[in-house]
Amino acid sequence: MIDLDRLQKQSRIIGTSDSVQHVLEMIAQVAPVDISVLVTGESGVGKELVAKAIHKTSKRSNDSMVVVNCGAIPEGIIESELFGHKKGSFTGASEDRKGYFEEAHKGTIFLDEIGETPLETQVKLLRVLESGEFMRVGEVKMRYTDVRVIAATNKNLGELVKKGDFRQDLYYRLKTVTVDVPALRKRVEDIGPLVERFALEFTRSNGILYRGFMPEAIRVLKQYEWPGNVRELKHFVEKIIVLQKGERITAEIVQNELLDVLPLDPIQNTALPVIVNQSSDKAEIDLILRQLFMLKQDTEIIQKMLMSGQVPPTGTQFPIITPSEMGMPLPEKSMEIMEDGHKLIRDDAIGDMSIKDLEEEAITRSLKFFNNNRRKTARSLGMSERTLYRKIEEFGLDPKIKRRN
Ligand SMILES: Nc1ncnc2c1ncn2[C@@H]1O[C@H](COP(=O)(O)OP(=O)(O)OP(=O)(O)O)[C@@H](O)[C@H]1O
Ligand SMILES: [Mg+2]
Repeated sequence: MIDLDRLQKQSRIIGTSDSVQHVLEMIAQVAPVDISVLVTGESGVGKELVAKAIHKTSKRSNDSMVVVNCGAIPEGIIESELFGHKKGSFTGASEDRKGYFEEAHKGTIFLDEIGETPLETQVKLLRVLESGEFMRVGEVKMRYTDVRVIAATNKNLGELVKKGDFRQDLYYRLKTVTVDVPALRKRVEDIGPLVERFALEFTRSNGILYRGFMPEAIRVLKQYEWPGNVRELKHFVEKIIVLQKGERITAEIVQNELLDVLPLDPIQNTALPVIVNQSSDKAEIDLILRQLFMLKQDTEIIQKMLMSGQVPPTGTQFPIITPSEMGMPLPEKSMEIMEDGHKLIRDDAIGDMSIKDLEEEAITRSLKFFNNNRRKTARSLGMSERTLYRKIEEFGLDPKIKRRN
């Protein structure tokens, strides 16, 4: 039985939506069985990530996964690329050559954009899928390969079959096990966690102190259609961080940037999906985590300033200081947020932590930071004092809380 949390952590497939959980369940079900899988979904939804997760979770994980973009190989050489060729079989074939199916022996072959494969090649694909048998171009000797096939497409293969552009037999053979990865606009609750991950990875690997996206900014992101899906979101996050030089990202900044890519103001566009009703608890937790993160960044900057004898005047806008400027070693590119022994989210904790744990940590540490002042703590966490008290009771924290001054 595969542990879904562990699978999610290992595969780095981010998302809390039911559809991502469903995709993970499918991966867990099909990965251990040596069966071919078709991964479908729009461009940029994460089909390759799913294919890699299946391979990594399968018993073939110690052997390689060969990735072939069928759409990028010219028709004239696709068979030689896939199945290899014999020396002299065509102009330029100066040596015997192994194809990808031979290279992937014992492992997995990922046939991306399978819908682009020429019809004649499809016959040969069907054969290798069914029996593992194939022939190198220019040879008559039957060869055998032991590969698991994962194919992907952003096309509607059923439509291609109707038009006569895809073989029906290959279609039926492939579609038996289909993992469909939904478009990002159909699972907007994943946008928050994805933005957080991409922003952290990007700022870490570029040595930028990251001050976070405001919850309102995330709300604006949820209203955009994301036709390029997760890939487009990732590039958008990276671009906005560079343009804003690490400043905290507000709804206004996001809206302005989106106007560049949108013909219509996303807020005005009624054709866009409406904000999904998040449960208020979940929204609150999101808020706590973000606020705590921002708080931590500010604390770090203040600490550094104090250490260097600088005292920031009231109302100072803190500058972005890179870790190296602060004399800190650059952290490894990872999900680690802090290097001070009080890590909020460590790489190895992903998959094993619960929202409750995070919430408890956020509250405990914020209370400590604000010297148990409940009003400041509640405000910084974006929750009401009443809720804060309820949580303190719930978690049995019971600190010596200072009454409202
Ligand atoms: N759920 C996810 N969690 C984290 N990263 C993701 C997720 N989905 C997609 N990505 C990232 O988005 C980018 C696009 O993903 P991927 O290449 O797997 O998409 P695709 O469906 O194969 O796209 P295409 O059809 O254009 O080939 C990659 O950088 C990938 O790591
Ligand atoms: Mg792809």
